[in-house]
Amino acid sequence: MTSNDNGYTWAGRFSEPVSELVKRYTASVSFDQRMWRQDIRGSLAHARMLARQKIISADDLADIERGMQTVAEEIEAGQFQWLLDLEDVHLNIEKRLTTLIGDAGKRLHTGRSRNDQVATDIRLYLRDAIDDILKLIAAFRTALLDLAEKEVATPMPGFTHMQVAQPVTFGHHVLAYFEMFGRDAERYADCRKRTNRLPLGAAALAGTTYPIDRAFVAEQLGFDAVCENSLDAVSDRDFAIEFCAASALLMTHISRLSEELVLWMSPRIGFIRIADRFCTGSSIMPQKKNPDVPELARGKTGRVYGHLTALLTLMKGQPLAYNKDNQEDKEPLFDAVDTVTDTLRIFADMMPSITVRPEAMLAALQQGFATATDLADYLTKKGLPFRDAHEAVGLAVKRAEQLGVDLPQLPLAELQTFSPLVAEDVFAVLTVEGSLAARNHFGGTAPEQVRAAIARARKRILDCS
Ligand code: ARG
Repeated sequence: MTSNDNGYTWAGRFSEPVSELVKRYTASVSFDQRMWRQDIRGSLAHARMLARQKIISADDLADIERGMQTVAEEIEAGQFQWLLDLEDVHLNIEKRLTTLIGDAGKRLHTGRSRNDQVATDIRLYLRDAIDDILKLIAAFRTALLDLAEKEVATPMPGFTHMQVAQPVTFGHHVLAYFEMFGRDAERYADCRKRTNRLPLGAAALAGTTYPIDRAFVAEQLGFDAVCENSLDAVSDRDFAIEFCAASALLMTHISRLSEELVLWMSPRIGFIRIADRFCTGSSIMPQKKNPDVPELARGKTGRVYGHLTALLTLMKGQPLAYNKDNQEDKEPLFDAVDTVTDTLRIFADMMPSITVRPEAMLAALQQGFATATDLADYLTKKGLPFRDAHEAVGLAVKRAEQLGVDLPQLPLAELQTFSPLVAEDVFAVLTVEGSLAARNHFGGTAPEQVRAAIARARKRILDCS
């Protein structure tokens, strides 16, 4: 290795060492060491290609494979010494390899640059992360389905503008989230396609003078394709931005669900209970049981939005090709992966711990004239134009409000003062069960439909995982 006394592998043309501050400022090893597995995998694929193309000897390859095995064991065992002086994960591993095996280690970097190396590592890392996330989304969606199935016919008020609107079933409500997270899974799977392309071979930016075989490397690393343009290959971070965009949207859905859990858990509403292990108490108020997990998830949504903004901003001013700015891609990306992964894991665990309080949901339903639309529909079906029916029911609601009762509590004679079309059969329509059962079409809230939706969902979940 060419080096002057500052020890850097690239220091040949330098006449003075960098300051400690600059060293710390420019190093990434403290955070990019998490890609060590991907770095070694990529290096082994590169070395095998070099040997196959007779760019290095079979003996060199054997040394590299043996040395990398030792490096991997040392890292795994926590015995590897990560050195700030060696800047990043790539140089740390290469240097240790060379110490272990000598010249063959120095030949590994033939026809390669850290620019295509790091781009390859991140893509391998993110591909694995997406695969984990897809499994976690499937587990979480299964937990949502189980909860929906348990409460398939449990009536709750559906809200618009946070005002009681119409009855829905709790199962139906939960299935709305099942849909959102299904779209999230699709987005990650789509992002995986563009992540899973091989940059290696682009070298620093222009390609390399050696007779490399990029397709062979791609195949060994399980990439679907090879990046077509060397300049784009080393500088493209779109896949990381897409990942953060998909993550931001997933966290939006997590945050909306969290907001509902927090509201539903409030003693003022009291629709659900969440197991104690997901809540904490207050250090001053002994009566408190706070929904910490959903609150934190709602809060952590902000940091994922931040990571998306950070990466977009990181890229927007960069001329082709690689610039050191790109080193700043990792911490936001890693934190987005960690936040989404932990959040999904904890939510999959929390969902089955939710117990519903149907009596509280029913009580809320009975206070909001939730079947008023059903009464309007009833009159319309008997021939009254819908707008007139709407008005008649509005007057009925006003009257019920004056009397302090819900619509079904109004006597028949009273109801008939608003429309002579009202008959004894009106009461079947005004019940919560009647209202639910009447919305009996694809995508509707009738328990029969929700049961069918759950059956379809159980099959669909397999398509996304
Ligand atoms: N640590 C660098 C990064 O994360 C690796 C690539 C550095 N390349 C270079 N020419 N300085 O982007």
